[in-house]
Amino acid sequence: MNNVVWHSHAVNKASRAEAKGQRPLVIWFTGLSGAGKSTLAGALEQALAAEGKHTYLLDGDNVRHGLCGDLGFDDAARQENIRRVGEVAKLMVDAGLIVLTAFISPFRAERALVRSLLGEGEFVEVFVDAPLAVCEERDPKGLYKKARAGEIRNFTGIDSAYEAPEQPEIHLLNAGKPVAALVDELLTALRQGNYL
Ligand code: ADX
Repeated sequence: MNNVVWHSHAVNKASRAEAKGQRPLVIWFTGLSGAGKSTLAGALEQALAAEGKHTYLLDGDNVRHGLCGDLGFDDAARQENIRRVGEVAKLMVDAGLIVLTAFISPFRAERALVRSLLGEGEFVEVFVDAPLAVCEERDPKGLYKKARAGEIRNFTGIDSAYEAPEQPEIHLLNAGKPVAALVDELLTALRQGNYL
C-alpha cells in the first residue's frame, strides 16, 4: 500500500472485546456443499447468542448475493471469495465479535491465508466431514444433480477439488447425527480449547 499509513485509534480491539465480555475469534466451517456447514454454524450461533455472546455469521450462499456477488466458481474466483471473507472476518474480530463462517473454502492455501490474518488462538478451523456420497444423496439444492448432468461446471467434489484440512482444530463427522449432538460436541471442543 503505497503512501497509506496505518492509523491506530484509541478505541481498539482489546477495549471492544472487553466491553462485550468475550474473546473475539473466527470459527471457520469448511466442507463440501451439503455437508451441513450452514446448519451447524447457525445452530452454534444460536447457542452462543443464548449465552449472551455477540456473534455474526458469514454464510457463503448469502455473501455471494452481495459482497461477493461478482464472483463465480473457478479457482481464482474462489480464492478471491475467501480472501474477501477473511478480511471481513478479521475486521469483525477487531470489532470484538465471535464470527462464524460457512464456506466450502476448498483450498488449503486460502484457509491458511485467513489463519495468517488472525492472531494466535483467533482462528478455529472446523472440518464438517461428510462423505461425498452422503452430500450427493442429500442434495438439498439439487446442485449435485445438475453438476452430474454437466449443467454446472467446477462443482466441488465433482469436477473441482476439495482439499480436506490436515490438522483442523475440530473435526466433526456429520453422517446422520442430530444437529443438537454436533453443537454439543462443538461447544465442548471450544471450551476444552479455551476458545470461549
Ligand atoms: S467457495 O468454494 O467459494 O468457498 P461458497 O461456500 O462461497 O464456495 O459457495 C458455495 C455454495 O454455492 C454452495 O453451497 C452451492 O449452493 C453454490 N454453488 C453454486 N455453484 C457451485 C459450484 N460450482 N461449486 C460449489 N458450490 C456451488
